[in-house]
Amino acid sequence: MQAALRVDKASKTYRSSNRQPFKAVNQVSLEIQSGQIYGLLGPNGAGKSTLIGMISGAAKPDPETGAIEIFGHSVINDREAAKRLLGIVPQEIVVEPAFTVEEVLYYFSGMYGVPSRERGPRIKAALDSLGLLDKLNEKARTLSGGMKRRLMIAKAILHQPKLLILDEPTAGVDVALRQRIWELVRELNRSGTTIIFTTHYLEEAEQLCESMTVINKGQVIKQGRVRDIQQEFSQNLISFELFDRDVEHLPGVRAIGTMFEYVYSDLSVDMSRILAHYSGNIKTIHNESASLEKVFLELTEGKA
Ligand SMILES: Nc1ncnc2c1ncn2[C@@H]1O[C@H](COP(=O)(O)OP(=O)(O)OP(=O)(O)O)[C@@H](O)[C@H]1O
Ligand SMILES: [Mg+2]
Repeated sequence: MQAALRVDKASKTYRSSNRQPFKAVNQVSLEIQSGQIYGLLGPNGAGKSTLIGMISGAAKPDPETGAIEIFGHSVINDREAAKRLLGIVPQEIVVEPAFTVEEVLYYFSGMYGVPSRERGPRIKAALDSLGLLDKLNEKARTLSGGMKRRLMIAKAILHQPKLLILDEPTAGVDVALRQRIWELVRELNRSGTTIIFTTHYLEEAEQLCESMTVINKGQVIKQGRVRDIQQEFSQNLISFELFDRDVEHLPGVRAIGTMFEYVYSDLSVDMSRILAHYSGNIKTIHNESASLEKVFLELTEGKA
């Protein structure tokens, strides 16, 4: 099957005259199969938006970059074809203040080559699925932040891209809109659109994606199926709090913040050992397996 997106060793160095060159993306490779909903995760400044900028053509990759291809079309050498297949919802909200929602969308659908008789129905369908149809004749500048976000999504889907990249589409939106965006993402995916989105909310990756790439400081630190990554890190932990921390500890017990942790092999045996050893000193105790949240923290803090 053809990959929807293939990135081979992409790098981006920002240069300015008064500062040291800064490598924001460092040899990132990924391949996303058509039909997926794919997560791109990483903390602030990891390089996610820069990578997306290279895919969209907004940022020029370093010459050492191997390839960036959308359905086989190079964004560097075959840019027009690649662009037609791609929809981007950028992280920063940009709207055209003087125009109405309808005018903005007419303009964009024209720019992306949507035939004029199809523009009206497509605009209405996009706005309807985003719950924004009643704002059709409002000036874009009068929309609320969440509504502007929806308008940006509408702009990106009018030309029915085969690959849609959303850069933190749910940042700063309320719970209801977040659910609506998830629903839209699922719907678009069901109708054949491959989706990539970046997020800080791990819950989103768990809910929506089959696979993901985690980047940190410009580099890929983990890549694969969400479930496999969770499993790889699913240590079985007994975690407990003590009244008096300053005691002799059992071998294998680690202090994590105010808690202590122990990786168990047999829950009942190890739990009994801990209970016997610390006896009346135990304030709380429970067992857990790693959540994606914890995996993410361990990965991005470099502890993994
Ligand atoms: N135009 C630019 N010039 C110089 N440095 C830049 C530029 N754009 C981004 N950077 C730097 O590159 C790094 C990666 O930024 P980027 O916006 O790609 O991160 P991100 O993963 O999208 O973060 P966030 O989650 O906060 O959106 C940061 O250190 C940032 O300061
Ligand atoms: Mg970003």
